[in-house]
Amino acid sequence: MDYFNYQADELYVEDVSVQDIVYQHGSPCYIYSRATLERHWKAFDDAFGEQPHLICYAVKANSNIAILNLLARLGSGFDIVSLGELERVVAAGGDPKKIVFSGVGKREDEILAALKMGIRCFNIEVSGELDRIDILAEQLGVIAPVSFRVNPDVDALTHPYIATGLKENKFGIDFDQALSEYRRAAAMPNVQVVGIDCHIGSQLTESRPFLDALDRVLALVNALENEGIALHHIDLGGGLGICYKDEHPPEPAEYIKAILARLSHQKYEILLEPGRAIAGNAGILVTQVEYLKTTPYKNFAIVDAAMNDLIRPSLYGAWQEIIPVTKRGGVDEKHWDIVGPVCETGDFLGKDRPLKIGQGDLLAIRSSGAYGFSMSSNYNSRPRCAEIMVDGTKVRVIRDRERISHLWAGEHLLAL
Ligand code: LLP
Repeated sequence: MDYFNYQADELYVEDVSVQDIVYQHGSPCYIYSRATLERHWKAFDDAFGEQPHLICYAVKANSNIAILNLLARLGSGFDIVSLGELERVVAAGGDPKKIVFSGVGKREDEILAALKMGIRCFNIEVSGELDRIDILAEQLGVIAPVSFRVNPDVDALTHPYIATGLKENKFGIDFDQALSEYRRAAAMPNVQVVGIDCHIGSQLTESRPFLDALDRVLALVNALENEGIALHHIDLGGGLGICYKDEHPPEPAEYIKAILARLSHQKYEILLEPGRAIAGNAGILVTQVEYLKTTPYKNFAIVDAAMNDLIRPSLYGAWQEIIPVTKRGGVDEKHWDIVGPVCETGDFLGKDRPLKIGQGDLLAIRSSGAYGFSMSSNYNSRPRCAEIMVDGTKVRVIRDRERISHLWAGEHLLAL
């Protein structure tokens, strides 16, 4: 359930008409619903009941500080992958003690900053990272809390670009090498082993691969216990899918119930790192039709948003629902390719969509709250669009539209 609904023929976000927002703040823009965002986070949190747990929102899905702040206020933890994300979380009021740091290529400066801030733990993905963390922790005179992200070699049954848990993927420690890495870590003076984690991919629509990965992780946990290496938490990563079209992913409650059933009465705190399932259906991208171009072969609706604003359709061939902001009478329905102004044939937001549209109409691209703005760029020297949060009847700009002058700020002419 979300809060993007029609009232008569007008699309509303919570209690505000999308058309009114665009009149005031311009097009294209991302619009988020606070109630939807919070509802999705709570769906994860509530499902755990008495079981010790921490929901570590994956910042990469949508890293606007207003969003991070709302989640921090609910008590959320955060999964980060860069110094930039670390600083964002802290700027947004997030608690460093609830931050887990994932990623295959953590630089020294990133590790140092995270150690100084006292994060919850490093999710180590490569053997050399353990040695680097041990040395840097010694330099600072601290003990670094670590977990290994193991690669369980499980097929996530998702798009190959976002499957991460197969042995041929760059992510995580090879399953068969994990035990010896844990032994090395346990013997190091400046690290403390606190957990284990895995993340097998994104937009998973079934529980099965998650449970297969959990089984493998639990086998390793038992082996570690037998060696006297005690863990405090098990982090099962993110990856729960959402409905873009006709997918039927499990609800967070169903998925968490299945995990808890598999764990039976194990004492570990459970961490999850959901991103898309919290933010995805909490946002839309609104765009205006600039021109209609009909040829003997195709109908194109050329809109003012493009692949630089929302790259998922171009990059993964992703399908996201496109709906009118104002339902129209008076024109025939036709099949349209919704394309942007960028100079690439791959610049499309949707293809062959049955719509009744005219020049100047506004369209909403649904399910754009995750991996929408956070993957946007300035390609074709297009300023990135505004981000707006609706909270009941209130509308707040949470990121200004970039100005043209921002585009070359920081660039320099040659001195001569
Ligand atoms: N944890 C780790 C270590 C991750 O790498 C990711 C996502 C997550 C958690 C969150 O996964 P989620 O719950 O959002 O599925 N740009 C792609 C998705 C890339 C996901 C990368 N890692 C897309 O637009 O579909």
